[in-house]
Amino acid sequence: MPSKIRIALLSLALTPVCLISHAQQNPAIISVDVAHPGAPISPQMFGIFFEDINFAADGGLYPELVKNRSFEFDKPLTGWHEVLGFSAKGIDNPKGELSIRTQDPLNATNPHYLRARVYEPGYGFWNSGFRGMGVESGAEYRFSAYLRSGGPKGIRATLTDGSGREIASGKLEGFDGKWQRYETVIRANATVEHAQLILFVDETGYVDLDMVSLFPVDTWNHRPNGLRKDLVQLVYDLHPGFIRFPGGCIVEGRQLLTRYRWKTTVGDIVQRKTIINRWNDEFDQRPAPDYFQSFGLGFYEYFQLAEDIGARPLPILNCGMACQFNTDETAKLEELDEYVKDALDLIEFANGPATSPWGKLRAQMGHPAPFHLEMIGVGNEQWGPRYVERYKVFAAALRAKHPEIKLVVAAGPAPAGEPFNTMWSNWRQLKGDIVDEHYYMPPEWFLANTGRYDHYDRSGPKVFAGEYAAQTSGVAKPDNRNNWEAAISEAAFMTGLERNGDVVQMASYAPLMAHVDAWQWTPDAIWFDNLRSYGTPDYYVQELFASNIGTRIVPVTPQAEGGLFTSASIDERKHELIVKVINDTASARPTEIRLGALGSSGTAKVTILQSANLKAENSFDYPKAVSPEASAVEVRAGTISTELRPYSVNVYRMSMK
Ligand code: AHR
Repeated sequence: MPSKIRIALLSLALTPVCLISHAQQNPAIISVDVAHPGAPISPQMFGIFFEDINFAADGGLYPELVKNRSFEFDKPLTGWHEVLGFSAKGIDNPKGELSIRTQDPLNATNPHYLRARVYEPGYGFWNSGFRGMGVESGAEYRFSAYLRSGGPKGIRATLTDGSGREIASGKLEGFDGKWQRYETVIRANATVEHAQLILFVDETGYVDLDMVSLFPVDTWNHRPNGLRKDLVQLVYDLHPGFIRFPGGCIVEGRQLLTRYRWKTTVGDIVQRKTIINRWNDEFDQRPAPDYFQSFGLGFYEYFQLAEDIGARPLPILNCGMACQFNTDETAKLEELDEYVKDALDLIEFANGPATSPWGKLRAQMGHPAPFHLEMIGVGNEQWGPRYVERYKVFAAALRAKHPEIKLVVAAGPAPAGEPFNTMWSNWRQLKGDIVDEHYYMPPEWFLANTGRYDHYDRSGPKVFAGEYAAQTSGVAKPDNRNNWEAAISEAAFMTGLERNGDVVQMASYAPLMAHVDAWQWTPDAIWFDNLRSYGTPDYYVQELFASNIGTRIVPVTPQAEGGLFTSASIDERKHELIVKVINDTASARPTEIRLGALGSSGTAKVTILQSANLKAENSFDYPKAVSPEASAVEVRAGTISTELRPYSVNVYRMSMK
């Protein structure tokens, strides 16, 4: 979050960085002490943090194409428009009119619906989608709606491109005076990034509509109400050890009334109550008045996603505090029962038997087996005595009933100073399991802090670097870039996380995703539009580290010297040694990597992520401009002699057999 506190802490935390930018004559010597492996590394070390920010859920991972499908936005016609024509009054629509009603609704949770009153056949109205609708040639889309008729027996649906050309069409028919769901599948004959869905009624009278949906048939794992395939694929390819969800500040809400309540996000999607997204009006420079949460992507889908991508789920729950940067509203201690019950019930929803009330809902939704929830975040980025008081209430209830569940607690919004220090001493005293630290800092900070965890107390709570990203311009500034300068500084920092894998248990870059036409926060690991997506250099750093993490730390020297940063680990399952060397200088660096007791000869696999240009970025046109390249390198008598390319991340993997 942007904040005066954070900016003040940023300047306190910065320490001078000394980099060597000239070529060196003698090779740099890196010594890996294979004979003395150290502590185990957490198997869930590198994961992801998914927040519904930047249209990452509705309009992104959740591929519903109709915006405001249930007419519950604060302006209930948001996204909906009439097809205009000429009349004596000018440009208007004399054939009918739209109104929002609540009498005799489809359900009481989402009470608004649309009435289209038709005076003349051919009355039309359309939905603009999330900055348009992305449709692909040959792909099928399920068009569905709940309908009730006061006359007309059918509606026509037409998908058009920007020029009005029809690219798909279908019909829903046979309505009567009762709410009922109707669906048909339509196929697009062209690829269009900004399509529109137009509905026409050809008989006079009125039609009531609710939950109007256009949904790709081809989703991740072919699920109805499933997720957007290309985005899940990118996430899957990151090999995340865990997924933290659903936020972030949206867990807190601007006020408690609009906090994230998981129970309203499960069960029949028609019954999931739409609410405002707190990023809707957070930044004056990036207004998003049409940003709401339909919860089509709810807690069941998050757990399912975690399972699909092989990541441990880490849900974050509101602890009775709204965003401390906004209203700072706090639930009274005597009002906390509901919040604590939500946490206990969530454990039952995730892990309870299918005979338990919440386990039964999970089973009814299609997942009788448990989701293996092992940890819960109590609060997002909270701090201060009110947080500690509320945590104690949660901890008493959760520890008593579920001692097996680890509690993740927050250290506030910044990585040093106050309230960070006080929060840490609280957690040591209260024996919090894992402390979530957040740092949105400049690239120089990441380079200067690779040793941050070298002297952390090993006997206290573990560390979760829950949100971090190098900011090339400043926190929450719209001109931050996902460039190589930011990404390589994160890679250098991550060597420090890995070398301290006994105390740092988890780490996740933040935020994960952003829609190019609808974002609020930059930088982000993945960018997408309505059809395409790509990983940034930061994404590839994450991918490289997460797919090359061993099970045990191996000592390596030097760790950070002259612009070189190192870490090493052993993968005991594959009997492989993994060495990472980052050259954060503008020069090619002759280097010898000496593998100590591993004195053999052979080849190692080397994967290099590199650009000589610190400003290099990926884009839709050049999605892999900065991306890993794999090759082989010779190992001679236990030494790799190489020349590290300027500004490069190098990962070596070799057999220890
Ligand atoms: O990642 C963006 C925001 O930064 C998160 O919502 C919040 O936890 C942090 O302040």
